[in-house]
Amino acid sequence: MALPAKLDQKFWTGFARNIWEKKPLSLKNVQSSLSEISADEIFKLLVLFADRCRKLNDSEGFKFYIDGFKADPDEVLQVLPEKSDKSLLGYHERMKALFPDYCLVCDELLQVNHSKQHLLTEFTDQLYQHVGFPNRFSEMGLYLGNYRKTPFGVHVDSCGVFSFPVVGKKEFRLWSPEYVKKNPSLDRAFSYEKHKKHSQLLEAGPGDITYWPSSAWHIAESDGSFSATWSLGVWVDKSHQEIFSDNLKNFLSEKVVATKSTGTTAYKYRHSKLGEVIELPKAYQDSIALLQKLTTAELQEAFLSSWMKHISSQGFKTVPTGTVKISPKSRLSLRNPKAPILWQQSATAKNKIHLSFGGILVNGVKNGGLHKLVLALNSGESAVVGSYLKSSAAAKKDLQALQLLADAGAFSRGEAIL
Ligand SMILES: [Fe+2]
Repeated sequence: MALPAKLDQKFWTGFARNIWEKKPLSLKNVQSSLSEISADEIFKLLVLFADRCRKLNDSEGFKFYIDGFKADPDEVLQVLPEKSDKSLLGYHERMKALFPDYCLVCDELLQVNHSKQHLLTEFTDQLYQHVGFPNRFSEMGLYLGNYRKTPFGVHVDSCGVFSFPVVGKKEFRLWSPEYVKKNPSLDRAFSYEKHKKHSQLLEAGPGDITYWPSSAWHIAESDGSFSATWSLGVWVDKSHQEIFSDNLKNFLSEKVVATKSTGTTAYKYRHSKLGEVIELPKAYQDSIALLQKLTTAELQEAFLSSWMKHISSQGFKTVPTGTVKISPKSRLSLRNPKAPILWQQSATAKNKIHLSFGGILVNGVKNGGLHKLVLALNSGESAVVGSYLKSSAAAKKDLQALQLLADAGAFSRGEAIL
């Protein structure tokens, strides 16, 4: 296919039809929202995240490999970027002096800063629109260092991967699943000279994008010079059956089987003398009766709210949390105008609505203060909480719900940033 400068509709349509989960792709000089994040901004994000880790004395979110070996979490805290490094290259100079082969991985770096998150969702929204919304999630990681090979050797993940180099050149060597099946020694291998001729090499530099499907075995290679690369993994290992049965299980445990459970099941007879099992204990009969009473509307409501909750995370494993504290005086606007607070009408209670943002669900009253406030925010306005939620018992509940949405990162304070 032609190499586009822009990831437009035509590109995505072709991508979904011919490339996605089928074959690797290498694109040169692509205009993508993600390339708007400069190396300097990435350095600042890393320092921000690292400062937080140092303060909490917890390196969660970072991994560090020395000569291919994973460092202990305590050691990781000692090697994170610092403000005094001044830049990615400054950090590299300091690390290079200590380690001839190192790799720093930061998962979900964009989660530390709301202002850059929309650049990622612009890309993923287009992707999801064409290939579907992931039943599991996507993860965005930053890989940097001078490592010559991926620390865990040739491997396969259950995710399709998009790579966006920021600094330096990246090379990814790929093998088909059929080839690795015939040559199992490639699994976790670091030396694979004789298999090279059966591999495909993707090369990319800043501004380029590579993609490989979830079935591709791969390893990153470099000549030992410094590189920093974004890697977006879109997990494709959760089937519709799995997500549907997860939803059903949650629904059943919340709603249908609400009867007291003691950990044992009372019964009259376990089996006849000849071993035949005939009678269901009463607890089972009662639960079956509850299932039979379920209406289509109830089921649709349950699955619709599960779906709403699922898409409210925008397909990400973790979403940035919010720091806005809500009071009646707060003036709010949506953090990202393209990420509205989702809501749905309850199918079983006319005056009830469910609202969702960032993977949480809250309830509200149809056309009540909270609902009206959310509609105003979703239409791009900034709004003062107190002018929608008047002091009453209901308003107190609405304020609590609003705080949960704020904690999930829905709002920024003050005027909408458009
Ligand atoms: Fe991988």
